[in-house]
Amino acid sequence: MNSRKTLSLGLVALTTLAFACGGGSQESTQSADSANSASVQEANISLEDKYKDDPVFITGSAKAKEAGCTACHMIERKVVGPSYADVAAKYENTPENVSLLADHVIDGNVGNWGEIQMPSHPHLERADVEDMIKYILLLKK
Ligand code: HEC
Repeated sequence: MNSRKTLSLGLVALTTLAFACGGGSQESTQSADSANSASVQEANISLEDKYKDDPVFITGSAKAKEAGCTACHMIERKVVGPSYADVAAKYENTPENVSLLADHVIDGNVGNWGEIQMPSHPHLERADVEDMIKYILLLKK
């Protein structure tokens, strides 16, 4: 009787100990932590990181750099012209819009984003400009 009692007391103590260490509070802190870091990561991932492996991104961003668009446009920040992310948010990614925006880049444009004019780019090949536009319209959050 005596030894049985000791044993069951010991078991109770063990279970309590195990619960205190492994279960309850610590576990909930851990899962809260990992949920936090996952959502922070999600929010912090740049559009560049999100799309950089997409062939449309690779081709279009190289051509846009080469053509000097980067002097006035950045992916996520307005500089002289709107950010590519803002352009992507405004226009649906359709063939009509790719064509329309290619016209605006080649002919120059003003008034859609403010008072500053985008200069014309008559020397660029239309196919290249369309690749740049497809890349810009890809950059949706
Ligand atoms: C000298 C600065 C400058 C350069 C270089 C430039 N842009 Fe722009 N871009 C602007 C400005 C300013 C606007 C806003 C024009 C407006 O309000 O309609 C604009 C607008 C745009 C738009 C949105 C047009 C619309 O109708 O909404 C696209 C797309 C764009 N640029 C792509 C490009 C590409 C691609 C290149 C490179 C070939 C380029 N830009 C080079 C200044 C520039």
